[in-house]
Amino acid sequence: MSKELMQKNIDRAQVFIDQNKDIVKEGKMRQSYHFMAQTGWLNDPNGLIYYKGKYHLFYQYNPYYGYWDYMHWGHAVSEDLVHWEYLPIALAPSEFYDDHYRGGCFSGSAIEHDGKLFLMFTGCTNNGNGFEQSQCIAYSEDGIHFEKYEGNPVLTPPNDVPRHMFRDPKVWKHDGKYYMVCGASKNNCAQALLYVSEDMFHWEFFSVLAESRGEWGYMWECPDFFPLGDKYVLLVSPMGAGERTCVYMVGDFSYETGKFVYVVSGEADWGFDYYAPQSFVDGKGRRLVIGWANCWDWMPFWKDWGPTYREGWCGFFAVPREVKLNPDHTLRFEPVEELRTLRGEETEQDNMLVEGGQDDIPLKDGYAYELKMEIDLKATTADTFSLFLRCDDSRERYTKITYDLKRQHMTFDRNHGDGWSRGISHSPLWMKDHDIFSIHIYVDKSSIEVFTENYSTNHSCNVFADKSQNKNFLSVPAGQLKIKSLQMWPLKRVMF
Ligand code: FRU
Repeated sequence: MSKELMQKNIDRAQVFIDQNKDIVKEGKMRQSYHFMAQTGWLNDPNGLIYYKGKYHLFYQYNPYYGYWDYMHWGHAVSEDLVHWEYLPIALAPSEFYDDHYRGGCFSGSAIEHDGKLFLMFTGCTNNGNGFEQSQCIAYSEDGIHFEKYEGNPVLTPPNDVPRHMFRDPKVWKHDGKYYMVCGASKNNCAQALLYVSEDMFHWEFFSVLAESRGEWGYMWECPDFFPLGDKYVLLVSPMGAGERTCVYMVGDFSYETGKFVYVVSGEADWGFDYYAPQSFVDGKGRRLVIGWANCWDWMPFWKDWGPTYREGWCGFFAVPREVKLNPDHTLRFEPVEELRTLRGEETEQDNMLVEGGQDDIPLKDGYAYELKMEIDLKATTADTFSLFLRCDDSRERYTKITYDLKRQHMTFDRNHGDGWSRGISHSPLWMKDHDIFSIHIYVDKSSIEVFTENYSTNHSCNVFADKSQNKNFLSVPAGQLKIKSLQMWPLKRVMF
């Protein structure tokens, strides 16, 4: 019976998508190369897995309109992380543990088990006693059609964890056993709880992998835990940690004790629109992450989710990034190399000495492009410089990225970006011992992602600028800026 209900809910959603996707496609704010759903609302990436030669991407999805509600799992596949093919919805609410219009099939992960593709997700419902969350399983023989396990839920919250604060299972296999980390909250402090299983279906508590003492908030959403080099990384999206919304911790871990001790922490992205990243290892052995390019209404800087709901959609993913460990055990997040296939004709200018205090230097026009720049710090005397991106002709509208080399600080100001968005994201810069200062930027119709200092200091923010805002400038107020190289490429459209 319930199997039929899920299928009915999937069919209903598919009919809606098919009837509306061509209209939504025409939206002026649709991205050129960032992954979006065909219609409606998208948030977290889920169930990322490289399975039978393809990248599978699932996502938190409300197909019906551009706001969060009634979570389904959308599904798409790709062979190169750039071109995506939409598949039928994988999961829809249908059971006593997930059938609620303000709940549904919440975030989770994927794993291959027993020759099948398994999804582990959070069922979220409200049967009159407040919201309740539990961990559930669905599986598929063909990687397209999923069935929920009859014995769901397989894990309910521990007694000391509020029943609506136990979610987002990330599962992996190690030495013949299954492990799963879940986000939780205890005494108003965030926790990452580790569970272990012999068979995927029976789960036992193993350890508190890490917890906040208040400094990292009251709840961790979408925890992710993985080895990198000779270290382990815990990635969490904290609630209640101010502007720190995408925190990583790097340290050591023992499978004997379940203890994780971290010595380094950092921010995967300081921008206002990067949240709930999930990682996976692909066929090339790379540790990749994909994050949702938006934020929640409980964040201190939140204004809204942007104007795209008017076009019948909301939400996209930031460009896929490869995670690498720096020698000092901080992390860097490099856009995947496959994105180079999007490049059009290159414009390059090398060895430019820019004298400050003069007119801003026009860069190549564009609204969907990539910009790479290297500054020779030894030959630079300027204290600060700025990039003005996506400007209109009169320069009333612009997004301003400023590097204060002297005070070692950067800002991303979108207060004048589109007449809609607000806020200035900011972060420290680690200038020490660097001779070359590197900047790499991905601009799309509705977003700007800035990678600085060899991909260790990143800011991603959405800017819903009009296509006519295609002017870009470099501004040096005083002193000299020595540019070793500056490259730009227009980027092809592959998403609609
Ligand atoms: C994170 C999150 C998750 C939850 C999902 C619901 O963005 O709040 O914790 O599972 O979104 O859509």
